[in-house]
Amino acid sequence: MAPKNESFKDGDAKKGAGLFKCHTLEEGGGNKVGPNLHGLFGRKTGQVEGFSYTDANVHKGITWKEDTLFEYLENPKKYIPGTKMAFGGLKKGKDRNDLITYDFAMNGDCQLHANALPSHLREATK
Ligand code: HEM
Repeated sequence: MAPKNESFKDGDAKKGAGLFKCHTLEEGGGNKVGPNLHGLFGRKTGQVEGFSYTDANVHKGITWKEDTLFEYLENPKKYIPGTKMAFGGLKKGKDRNDLITYDFAMNGDCQLHANALPSHLREATK
């Protein structure tokens, strides 16, 4: 069973790679179904120019970083009630760590590739 006080730990960036169908991660990648996530860390919710967010996402008002993302990605609709992000979440803390570590690395450079992701995570983030 997962420990109750589970929190963000450095994950394995190579395993955490995953290209989302709904998001781009690279600088200037543009918005798809979801907003571009480049530079996400340190940014408040709902700030991407030209993306039509729900009020719920905009008004959440937290800053995206490891721990907020870790909680959000377990169950996005619970963390932001009313969000239109159609992603069920990743129940395993390790999967979220891997993904967040990857996201973070992606904000620096784009070396990693989606194929490095274990197949169940690749499926989950498709
Ligand atoms: C593990 C995969 C995913 C991650 C890490 C992720 C991350 C995020 C984050 C951090 C935001 C908030 C951005 C902000 O406040 O600027 C967001 C919003 C959003 N995402 Fe995702 N996302 C994932 C999967 C998906 C999927 C699969 C979809 C589409 C089916 C999706 C569609 C959206 C949409 C539409 C929004 C805007 C929500 C709103 O305005 O209520 N995301 N995502």
